[in-house]
Amino acid sequence: MIKTAPSILAANYITLGDDIKKIEDAGADYLHIDIMDGHFVPNMSFGPGFVSAIHPVSKSVLDVHLMITEPERYIKQFAEAGADIITIHTESTADPEKVIDDIISLGVKAGISVKPATPVEEIYRLLDKVSMVLIMTVEPGFGGQSLIPATLDKITPLYNEIKRRGLEVDIEVDGGVTADNVHELTSRGANVIVAGSAVFKAKDPAAVLAEFKK
Ligand code: DX5
Ligand code: ZN
Repeated sequence: MIKTAPSILAANYITLGDDIKKIEDAGADYLHIDIMDGHFVPNMSFGPGFVSAIHPVSKSVLDVHLMITEPERYIKQFAEAGADIITIHTESTADPEKVIDDIISLGVKAGISVKPATPVEEIYRLLDKVSMVLIMTVEPGFGGQSLIPATLDKITPLYNEIKRRGLEVDIEVDGGVTADNVHELTSRGANVIVAGSAVFKAKDPAAVLAEFKK
């Protein structure tokens, strides 16, 4: 089953409560919340307080994507804020396995992400622990970029490895996803589709989400 995860980085922050309701009525499964620290990536966005504010007004799975250095410093705060899934970057910490264990011990699902230049095989040792692998299809840091085609080559090998081990691990893709390229991603094995601009800037977000799920 394909799940959609609109990235609220591209939403209107002034009308966010209404926009979340609209996007959920339109069929969103997850809300993807991009956390950036101005260090791991050259941009800043939201903190745990933002997730706490969204938690009571959303009925979606809160999919928190941490683009921060040493995420171990903040996972407890994001768990308490109401995150359902916390995804960290393998490049952001000395011991991703320990951080994954700590996320799970907080009662939250854990995801692991790779930037475009990081081989996906680097995270295979974590597949038995995580609920999701996030393949970045752009350089993390900004919405509105174009998908990097070479990143697609990671999806099928990862999908095959997950099946070979008999695991239930979701494959999420994030960055530059549109109604025009989404089927290339899902046909390769991606099943959680993040999209910011393509959803929030669309005239008819429900039609875009429906196209993603086809
Ligand atoms: C980029 C973020 C993405 C971003 C996607 O660093 O991780 O989630 O919001 O935005 P679009 O879909 O506009 O590329
Ligand atoms: Zn993201």
